[in-house]
Amino acid sequence: MSTTISLAGQVALVTGAATGIGAAIARTLAHAGATVVVNHLRRHAYADGVVRAIREAGGHATAFEADVKDAHAVADMVTWTEREFGRVDIAVQSAGVIQEKPFLETTEADWDFVVDTDLKGIFLCCRAVLPGMVRRGRGCVINIASELGLLGRASYAPYCAAKAGVIGITRALAREFAPAIRVNAIAPGPVDTPMLSVEHMSPEVLEAERAIPAERVGQPEEIAATALFLASDLASFYYGQVLGPNGGAHMG
Ligand SMILES: NC(=O)c1ccc[n+]([C@@H]2O[C@H](COP(=O)([O-])OP(=O)(O)OC[C@H]3O[C@@H](n4cnc5c(N)ncnc54)[C@H](O)[C@@H]3O)[C@@H](O)[C@H]2O)c1
Repeated sequence: MSTTISLAGQVALVTGAATGIGAAIARTLAHAGATVVVNHLRRHAYADGVVRAIREAGGHATAFEADVKDAHAVADMVTWTEREFGRVDIAVQSAGVIQEKPFLETTEADWDFVVDTDLKGIFLCCRAVLPGMVRRGRGCVINIASELGLLGRASYAPYCAAKAGVIGITRALAREFAPAIRVNAIAPGPVDTPMLSVEHMSPEVLEAERAIPAERVGQPEEIAATALFLASDLASFYYGQVLGPNGGAHMG
């Protein structure tokens, strides 16, 4: 087995890839040789920036706007990708939203927004890409969960529930589609992205994010490295696993 990770000739679809972890994963997979579809929602300038950076580095990428909560938009995106590039070999679900709100103030609309984006979005994307992977007898699915799906956190009930659900759907699909298709999840710890911005988080939460063995938040590239590993043949024996690049925030 070669230890050089090459994804040459493979097609990767990365959701939420205009910013943060998704953007780093798109850049990293493209650097390894994959053609990457950079999904985004109303982030044209950022998505175009990711595509431009990939192309300037000699890689192949195209942006595609689709709301992962919208079944038709997701189906259109996958149909377009399969028509344009022949298939989806690697599907990475990184699109997500977060909301900090005391549980007793959480409305049904809050719940629907977070759970529809973070969990139903993964259901819709997996349902759209898996038929082609089954037809071709191979494929790799990587779902971005969160350490908060394992640990829980006060004032984040919808997010924690959705991310625990991401782990559940990952394990169910891993069993249902093995051995041809590998489905795994990544549950990052705190990562320096627009989602974990000082503007959106209370000082208490930011302090908690930094109070981990690594004594710092992670960088998006550190999560992308895990995605690259899972997408590669080096991870050929990984099924239904939840890898935790989290600075030690959660162990086990
Ligand atoms: N940053 C962290 O500390 C952290 C920790 C654990 C898990 N995560 C997870 O990592 C993933 C990426 O988050 P991030 O930290 O890079 O934040 P981010 O806000 O930079 O990335 C999320 C992206 O998803 C996009 N998005 C939101 N709703 C969408 C929709 N309906 N359709 C398509 N795209 C949509 C956003 O526009 C954004 O570009 C998320 O699933 C998040 O829950 C983040």
